[in-house]
Amino acid sequence: MAPFDDQFYQPADKFFPTHSGVGLTYDDVTLATLYSEVIPRDANLDTQLHERLQLRLPIISADMDTVTESPMAIAMARAGGLGLIHCNMPERQQLSEVSRVKNNVHGLIQEPIKIGPDQLIGEVLAMISERRFGFSTFPVVDEKNTLLGLLPGHVVRERYAARKVAEAMMPRAQVHTIHERELGREPIKAADSFFTAHMGIHKLLVVGDGDVLRGLFTLSDIEHILHEHGSHFKPARDEKFRLLCGASIIGLRKADGTLDRERIIGHAGALVERGCDVIAVSTAHGHSAGVGDTVKLIREAFPELPIIAGNVTSGAGVEYLAKCGANVIKVGQGPGSICTTRVVAGVGIPQLTALYVASRAAEKCGVTIIADGGVVKSGDIVKALTLAQAVICGGLLAGCPEAPGQIMEINGKLYKQYRGMGSAAAMTAGSAARYGHSTKDSTRKVAAEGIEALKEVSPPVELVLAQLSGGVQSGLGYLGSRDLPTLRKAARFIRVTAAGQRESAPHDVIEVKSTK
Ligand code: XMP
Repeated sequence: MAPFDDQFYQPADKFFPTHSGVGLTYDDVTLATLYSEVIPRDANLDTQLHERLQLRLPIISADMDTVTESPMAIAMARAGGLGLIHCNMPERQQLSEVSRVKNNVHGLIQEPIKIGPDQLIGEVLAMISERRFGFSTFPVVDEKNTLLGLLPGHVVRERYAARKVAEAMMPRAQVHTIHERELGREPIKAADSFFTAHMGIHKLLVVGDGDVLRGLFTLSDIEHILHEHGSHFKPARDEKFRLLCGASIIGLRKADGTLDRERIIGHAGALVERGCDVIAVSTAHGHSAGVGDTVKLIREAFPELPIIAGNVTSGAGVEYLAKCGANVIKVGQGPGSICTTRVVAGVGIPQLTALYVASRAAEKCGVTIIADGGVVKSGDIVKALTLAQAVICGGLLAGCPEAPGQIMEINGKLYKQYRGMGSAAAMTAGSAARYGHSTKDSTRKVAAEGIEALKEVSPPVELVLAQLSGGVQSGLGYLGSRDLPTLRKAARFIRVTAAGQRESAPHDVIEVKSTK
């Protein structure tokens, strides 16, 4: 940069300390362009939140009851991001939601759900309903995991509930299998060739020596994966090729006010057992003993598990949660579109200043940060990613068909409900602890820190994310950054005035076609 440029367009470590007396948010600054050889579509949006948590898109859907359940989490992971399944529902239901994501689309399903020959079809039906499986064909094995047959979906019916699996299954000799040795280095290709050669067959079981069941391919998953190769997005998957999924937890307390250790560890353990890749301890005030102690409990019980915790807005908050064992810290108090924390409590920090302060502490502690709340356009994401490794979006996704809730029509326009987790309605439904209130208080008048709102219905998540990621890639292109670590080093900031903000959006024209 020419020296004169340097005086005006400053790197974060110069810009933010110069503005140390003022809280800045996304619209208060703009980023300066830099020499570029990067074509936006080549900009890489991979982000590493933890060594076991790599996303292909730095966007996470909020753990809110009007944003993320399994359909949203599936759509997010398919696009390379991550969904955090909210916990404002019974624990069993949350576990089923996680299972639905983890069972969504596989390459080789290495731990297929199996059944025994002596089980009743009625028991299989109960399992499907309890774990909300979207499939009903199961391999049948003995206690040594030797393959005995395959229970086809068309016999898994209520009318056969009293019959034994052994009576209804397709016998071993008729089941299509492949030995694991035959899969070679490209198992998807091997399975694809098998399905082409065997018209009408939808399941291929993988066996090892002694006919021990090793895995399962399904035709629809293989077709899905082959289709993904040509798609705009690369899905975020675990090492078993399952979609990534996160879930949130709250630090439940016993009647005497102490943390309920057994329930917290039991809940975390059940999530891990279902394949949950990351647990989020989400609260309004993360720099607090309750959150720290909850994180410590989970960390002690699951030393390898990535843990997200928050929310904080200070370096001390980041250091505290990192010390307790969190790997990824959520930053944001009051920036959310449905938040009233700043109005009600008079507390919270404008988001960019909070991110700067938190990011410098995070670097020292070896943890990563996520910018949570207040993101309303792709340009905000670019600005957030100059300091954070990912963003969390609630409002931007709440109008999508994948978000929970019904579409409603008001005066000819279509809307979906979007509510703060600290709103009176969400707290009554169970989220009071996240805001430091007792669940028992929730029917009394406690100070709500969020509102109940509506969002106009938006297109499916894939289209919304395509717009957002395209915008973020443009941002990287303007800053000559091939990837996100380069963006964080390259970014140069300048403050904008109210007139500058007006100039930054369409102005002095009559808009005939919105880009939304
Ligand atoms: P956006 O701006 O994406 O924000 O809609 C989503 C984030 O807002 C936080 N959140 C709340 N904050 N009161 C608050 O002060 C609330 O009731 C509330 N509900 C959600 C949360 O961090 C979410 O990710």
